[in-house]
Amino acid sequence: MISQEMNDLITRITPGTPAGEVMRRYWQPAALSDELAGNRPVVPVRLLGEDLVLFRDSEGELGLIQRACPHRGADMCFGRLEDNGLRCPFHGWHFNRSGQCVEQPGEPEGSRMHEKIKATAYPVVEKNGIIFAYMGPGEPPAFPDLDCFRAPDTHVFAFKGLWECNWLQALEVGIDPAHASFLHRFLQDEDPEEGYGKQFRDKAADTEIPMTRLLREYPRPEISVEDTDYGMRIIALRHLDDGRTHVRVTNQIFPEAISIPMSREMIITQWHVPVDDENCYWYSMFTSFDKPVNKELMRAQRLEEHDLPSYAPKKNKTNNYGYNAEEQGALTYTGMGLDINVHDQWAVESMGAIQDRTREHLGKTDAAIIAYRRKLRAAIKALQDGEEEALPMRNGVDPTTIKGPISNDTLTSDGDWRKSYEQGDAARRAACTDWDATI
Ligand code: FES
Ligand SMILES: [Fe+2]
Repeated sequence: MISQEMNDLITRITPGTPAGEVMRRYWQPAALSDELAGNRPVVPVRLLGEDLVLFRDSEGELGLIQRACPHRGADMCFGRLEDNGLRCPFHGWHFNRSGQCVEQPGEPEGSRMHEKIKATAYPVVEKNGIIFAYMGPGEPPAFPDLDCFRAPDTHVFAFKGLWECNWLQALEVGIDPAHASFLHRFLQDEDPEEGYGKQFRDKAADTEIPMTRLLREYPRPEISVEDTDYGMRIIALRHLDDGRTHVRVTNQIFPEAISIPMSREMIITQWHVPVDDENCYWYSMFTSFDKPVNKELMRAQRLEEHDLPSYAPKKNKTNNYGYNAEEQGALTYTGMGLDINVHDQWAVESMGAIQDRTREHLGKTDAAIIAYRRKLRAAIKALQDGEEEALPMRNGVDPTTIKGPISNDTLTSDGDWRKSYEQGDAARRAACTDWDATI
């Protein structure tokens, strides 16, 4: 457990907060490209506690500017998308994508006041279905060369979902390899062939053992954590009765992303993005090393579970997450259906808006959570000491040299788990002929 003061320090991210300053040194997912696909590409974005509006101008370029009009604060989300920018409907002030006011049609003829009016604006970059924003000072860092960015658009599917809780507890479920044996336990195994686009439904490594059975029967993983240039590698070993060892490699990518295997075909890169202190979005990029991703199917599966435009899950605390006691007895550990996102959502939302870490008791299996908090505190301290160059991926290591990272499940019979995951990964990458996945 930690003090209330420490809990506030590592969870709160609005402007001016120490952890918020760390977050602002990295590209943050701001919206899905899908959200701008309609006739009027203008959407509200609330990110790190700041209210913004994202739009595509008539040149096809993106702008992300403050939501409150710099004149008298009207909501620019209702702006007129015209003249290659966004015009406030209140008095017609017009802003271009860089936030510069270029016209004030009600001011006296010849007025140059607009030259001095600039809305807060942040750089944005679109990558394989997600629009990223940089909200910090100075130059944004280069993107690491992760698989989700290297793969062509055809091989990446992006989606998001709203969780009503602080981002850190959401991230902490993603770096907790032990919970999958319980929270996501299925009491019966379905045919892995039915599991396309879903997590933990494939076979484990190259065996006939469904992941569901492996997780259920081996609930005590041996967890170790290694420091990397991008964050941390998390290794979970499950020692099978027949002498073999199941190796699951997942990653924390600083500051708030994870990279995990989904199936033999796909990995997931997922950000837990702070909307504000008490809400977050998960943004996922599903990357295929095999066939192009079936985006229509994956989108349809997820749209069925979410309400647009908020991307709020249909199962939530107002309907007890669909909890069914009979199902809990016979089919799932939670009684909340087969969608594992709902399980995670219940786990993290039920802790409260910001988990009270003064009352927690961390165990051995929380090793990665402990290591991550240490890393975040070190980054906070570095910035407070004016040492921005001590932050991961801003420390002189060229982010474009960061590949992968390896995220997979393998099985080894000789106990050499490092060789097992490295060889398993290399084989998958070598077999990927649609794009260059070599690392
Ligand atoms: S409030 Fe926007 S132009 Fe007046
Ligand atoms: Fe989970």
